[in-house]
Amino acid sequence: MDIEQKLYEQALKVREKAYAPYSKYKVGAAILSDKGKYYVGCNVENISYPCGTCAEAGAIAAMIAGGDKEISALLVVSFGKNLVYPCGACLQRIAEFATSTTIIYVADKEGIKKKYSLKDLLPNAFKEEELSND
Ligand code: THU
Repeated sequence: MDIEQKLYEQALKVREKAYAPYSKYKVGAAILSDKGKYYVGCNVENISYPCGTCAEAGAIAAMIAGGDKEISALLVVSFGKNLVYPCGACLQRIAEFATSTTIIYVADKEGIKKKYSLKDLLPNAFKEEELSND
């Protein structure tokens, strides 16, 4: 099975487990790390709405807990009317662990629909260099 198919299947599977009783909008995310390992995450909502977390955040947390620190590819899937794109906060989360070759796939119930670099979606990510004052 190729990488795209594996990412898609893993994200679809974890999407089913999403805890989204308030929005009813289930999202799944799968990451392939630079070490060749797969990690998944789903959205986890909360009655105190701002406490909810996105699928991408869950997948990144799983990657870090698994000992990896670089995202080779990330796929996000939902079944909404429109495609789901990583939200602004998640793009920044992804930027922390992405490289210039990281691929971001956007998928729906039919399969992968779009393929991006992080720069396409977040051209001016806030990076460590920006912390410098001179
Ligand atoms: N959501 C994600 O998990 N990832 C995204 O990229 C966009 C939004 C979730 C958060 C919330 O549980 C639900 O989708 C509706 O906003």
